[in-house]
Amino acid sequence: MKKGLNRQWWKEGVVYQIYPRSFQDTTGNGVGDIKGIIKRLDYIKSLGVDIIWLNPIYESPNDDNGYDISDYRNIMHEFGTMADFDALLAGMKERGLKLVMDLVVNHSSDEHKWFQESRKSRNNPYRDYYHWWPAEKGTPPKRWSYFDVKGNAWQYDKTTDAYYLHYFSVKQPDLKWENPKVRQEVYSLMEFWFEKGVDGFRMDVISFISKDSDFPELPEVYDGKFIPFYSDGPKLHEYLHEMNQSVLSKYDIMTVGEAPGIGLDNALDFVDENRKELNMFFHFELMALDRKEGKTFEMTKEPWKLTAFKKVHSDWDAVFAEKGWGSMFLNNHDFPRTVSRWGNDSKTHWHNSATMLQTFLLSMRGTPYFHYGEEIGMTNIRFNNITDYQDINTINRYKTLEQNGGDLEEFIANEKDASRDNARTPMQWDTSENAGFSQTKPWLKVNTNYEEGINVASQETEKNSVLNYFRQMAQVRKDYPALVYGSYQLLLQADEEVYAYSRTFEEERYLVLLSFSTTKTTKTIDEIDFKQAELVISNDEIYTTGQVNTFELKPYQACIYKL
Ligand code: NOJ
Repeated sequence: MKKGLNRQWWKEGVVYQIYPRSFQDTTGNGVGDIKGIIKRLDYIKSLGVDIIWLNPIYESPNDDNGYDISDYRNIMHEFGTMADFDALLAGMKERGLKLVMDLVVNHSSDEHKWFQESRKSRNNPYRDYYHWWPAEKGTPPKRWSYFDVKGNAWQYDKTTDAYYLHYFSVKQPDLKWENPKVRQEVYSLMEFWFEKGVDGFRMDVISFISKDSDFPELPEVYDGKFIPFYSDGPKLHEYLHEMNQSVLSKYDIMTVGEAPGIGLDNALDFVDENRKELNMFFHFELMALDRKEGKTFEMTKEPWKLTAFKKVHSDWDAVFAEKGWGSMFLNNHDFPRTVSRWGNDSKTHWHNSATMLQTFLLSMRGTPYFHYGEEIGMTNIRFNNITDYQDINTINRYKTLEQNGGDLEEFIANEKDASRDNARTPMQWDTSENAGFSQTKPWLKVNTNYEEGINVASQETEKNSVLNYFRQMAQVRKDYPALVYGSYQLLLQADEEVYAYSRTFEEERYLVLLSFSTTKTTKTIDEIDFKQAELVISNDEIYTTGQVNTFELKPYQACIYKL
């Protein structure tokens, strides 16, 4: 293979994300657990994935489903014990699977002992672990909070007559990275997990950790668009570099930062190998495509355009063409289901669009991330009633609107497509009650379409199922390293129906054709001789036009050709 390629296991691997609460319940409490993941390891291995990213499994009061951690070195009761965790890790190692944990250190839970101490008195040794604003200085300068009913990131705390900062819920106080002791605590807990043998971290809102602790008034340009401000902290790169040098560089591990607010122009500051910070990060440009400007959770009325979808991916591919490395995802636990959002989950188009989108993620440069259930084409549940929603984000935004006399019907219509709960419904294993997820009522309703073929057991037996296509396509990525390392070239740039690109590696060139159309399409690419092209994979029957430069695709068809 080409010299200077800098091959890495985390570039070649496929990631499978597990939301443990929703994966498999073995104790009968309606909540998934670690033993459930262990039970399903052979299945996970059979998919052809290499790395599991686990959403937080640490001790937590679950205000935000584990993203509010009260003990970074213990396992959440509901999920099991440290012995279960050790067994999971051992089971994964036996099968050659790597484990990436979630690192949530922009904030902790208010029930963490650091915060319990910090709020006791102004001279408590832990006081400076969090951001406090003494009330005698007046009302603190405006900071916006994601999950606060009033949208206010400052919470007044009577005991010490001061406000603490919480970018997320009132139970998620922000840690003060400016305090070197906090940074040492974080590096030490990372080491604790690395010493156990974990293979990396996905770092929650890592772009938000550095703050100007003088809290200047927010410049006007950020009014209503706070994310770019939050992600541009003065010492962010100093901290990431320090973390790298203190811990990351000592292990053969991978890191992927969750990086809202980071754009093309500053992307390489995080992942240029010479800077020694992170390996990859998630950007949110694609996730913004169907959202109102600056509104992470509000959908636009107009549908997104394929040319815009292509542009996002082409621009980001170009940024990492020579340095750094990208990450590819279409959904996760914070965004609606892939096939419902980017494909078409109607009965007619569900199969082809789900497999077409799998083909896309597995044929682009950048490490592909799949969210549990994506391999069987799980869809949005679209709850009608606010009482069905469990997510603090939906519930608190509903409360805000209720208090302000807003349009609640319109809100629910939005949540049906946009809510995070769409991506959190229980995994659909089989046709038994609760889709084989649990023997009791699950913590979040199961999507009833498990009875209509969207479940693992039924798809195991169907040769052309979404599940079996996923396996084949994951194998294709392994068999053709050009799909991992090859350069990317966009074709048919202005076309609104077909996404076409080639991947070239040394002498080899592959062509990827993806239809995003509900009707049959015929297109021409002058430079390609389809008579000579050799089919590698397709999710539907191939129809040859018999012409040199012309191809035809069925609705949502995907094809890869070797040229
Ligand atoms: C991003 C996580 O992905 C999300 O689920 C969580 O609510 C926030 N960060 C706060 O930790």
